[in-house]
Amino acid sequence: MADRPLVIVTRKLPDVVETRLRELFDARLNLEDKPFTREELIDAAKTANVLVPTVTDRIDRSVLSQASPNLKLIAQFGTGVDNIDLETARNRSILVTNTPGVLTEDTADMTMALILAVPRRLTEGAAVLRSGANGWHGWSPTWMLGHRIFGKRLGIVGMGRIGQAVAKRARAFGLQIHYHNRRRVTPDIETALEATYWDSLDQMIARMDIISINCPHTPATYHLLSARRLALLKPSAYIVNTARGEVIDENALARMIENNELAGAGLDVFEHEPAVNPKLLKSNKVVVLPHMGSATLEGRIDMGETVIFNIRTWADGHKPPDRVLPGSV
Ligand code: 8YV
Repeated sequence: MADRPLVIVTRKLPDVVETRLRELFDARLNLEDKPFTREELIDAAKTANVLVPTVTDRIDRSVLSQASPNLKLIAQFGTGVDNIDLETARNRSILVTNTPGVLTEDTADMTMALILAVPRRLTEGAAVLRSGANGWHGWSPTWMLGHRIFGKRLGIVGMGRIGQAVAKRARAFGLQIHYHNRRRVTPDIETALEATYWDSLDQMIARMDIISINCPHTPATYHLLSARRLALLKPSAYIVNTARGEVIDENALARMIENNELAGAGLDVFEHEPAVNPKLLKSNKVVVLPHMGSATLEGRIDMGETVIFNIRTWADGHKPPDRVLPGSV
């Protein structure tokens, strides 16, 4: 490969990352952070040797089929790669890499924040104060009561890196850890996390107080929490999602919240981002965040460094470490 491959980055990245990208590669940056249109994305695929997209860029079959044969690597700035058609990329011999590991702790922190925020009504309480002088009339023994999380059952859907990091935190808060995963984790991990494995997601869901979604979005997990499955949840249960909106049938969830069939939800991700179902926005039982799970400066710099490491390794003629293959996520 040429010494300085043409690298097109679709979004503004932290300054230190952009500086390094410029030093190492022929980098075309998006300093205004205006998301690429479909045409701009196709244009980038026709021009670049390396494309650095994010969750907001849909790199589907039609984009990839117009890519030039010089496009060799898609180095996703992010862990999830559900915005990329991996199968078509492989058929066109385009490598895909991601940034696993570096956003685990931040995303787990945000998950734990939501596990606390929803049952303890954090945003609702804060909104009362913000609403002005008439909002708060002083302390009362029966006002703004939430629910205790200590001792409750947490069901983690997806026990990968992030799921395990959530389990560690949740144990420290006295939650009982349950999980469902494609594959059972090793006995030493189960023992360390005091985690109970459920082969049947249906059976687990019906018994949990809080469900946390921590699996990737793949064709197999699309609407994993379907209307049928959501209906198995106890009406007193909470659901937290910091993974991908598509894993939950958002309309079904919104209907259940509206009909008081669920105690609440903490959502950092949505099925049709940036759109959010208005029923969810309206309900004070729901804490909504705009996809902020990995939004720390440290995390975003680490993600950028991981992207650079993958590009650099590839440019040096080696296999980049974070290759993603169809079916591997
Ligand atoms: C990122 C994420 O901010 O990495 C992921 O999969 O969900 C987020 O934390 C975003 O997706 C970057 O592409």
